[in-house]
Amino acid sequence: MLRPIANTFQPQDYPDLLVGLSSPDDAAIWRIDEDRAIILTTDFFTPVVDDAYDYGAIAAANSLSDVYAMGGTPFLALNIAALPPDLPIEISAEILRGGAEKAREAGVVIAGGHTVQDKEPKYGLVVVGFVDPRAALTKTGARIGDKLVLTKPLGFGVTTTALKRGLAIEEDVKEVVAWMKRLNRTAGQLAVEFHLRGGTDITGYSLLGHAWEMASASGVGMRLNFDAIPLTRGARKYAEAYTFPGGATDNRFFFGEHVQFDSRLSENEQMLLFDPQTSGGLLLAVPPDQMDAFKRRAAELDQPAWEIGEVIPGSHIEVI
Ligand code: CO
Ligand code: CO
Repeated sequence: MLRPIANTFQPQDYPDLLVGLSSPDDAAIWRIDEDRAIILTTDFFTPVVDDAYDYGAIAAANSLSDVYAMGGTPFLALNIAALPPDLPIEISAEILRGGAEKAREAGVVIAGGHTVQDKEPKYGLVVVGFVDPRAALTKTGARIGDKLVLTKPLGFGVTTTALKRGLAIEEDVKEVVAWMKRLNRTAGQLAVEFHLRGGTDITGYSLLGHAWEMASASGVGMRLNFDAIPLTRGARKYAEAYTFPGGATDNRFFFGEHVQFDSRLSENEQMLLFDPQTSGGLLLAVPPDQMDAFKRRAAELDQPAWEIGEVIPGSHIEVI
């Protein structure tokens, strides 16, 4: 994303920009002083579900996620919206209300924004947060031996595409909508509480794309245990029907060369790990001696945390 501007801004000219230009990460971090840094991010996308309110809430949860993925606390946001001129005013209002209520749940105030007209709706937030610069979680922080924890199941892309094709059943859609609306706040708080260093959120590049970004940025390999990876209830069924969005094929094309699959895994099973996740969970690297305490604390906070693999030496992702 930043490559076209890489020649314009030199990292050495911005010593307080701790994360941004040189390393690909979820949000930019700007140091104010020793203890405080500003974290800044934006995200917006086209509708993933039919319900306008849910779409707004999912888009907001997704925008806030990049702050949580780096161990930050969001507090201020702006709307970014592109809405068709013929869209009924009630629908636009529901999108913005979904986003606003999700932001308020997160303790964030939306203090304005900007709307333009466009044929296809787009909505999201610009989010500002605080982070302790010494406690920030980044993609470079995974260490060999760390356990890998995922905090939401996979299956959002394959299910919402089944919905678009009229193939999804209502319960399956409800399940993925609830997950996509869920904030990554508690997962991020846990990461800070346990002084974790390596983490990211799983979004459009799929589990394997984001895992690979983290592995390559950290100079390590990863081994994922397919049977330990949580899937939403309908994910396998829709994978059989092959309702993967186009992004899944793109992800396989871009990241496939870095992944080695056990030969027992079928084509559809492999594709589930390339499925784009709108507003997916966090992928966290947890030191092995902290794993038990981490799981206990996660259970206390009602925060799902699936151990799906580990960080190993090497330069590939193995899926066994
Ligand atoms: Co992200
Ligand atoms: Co993002």
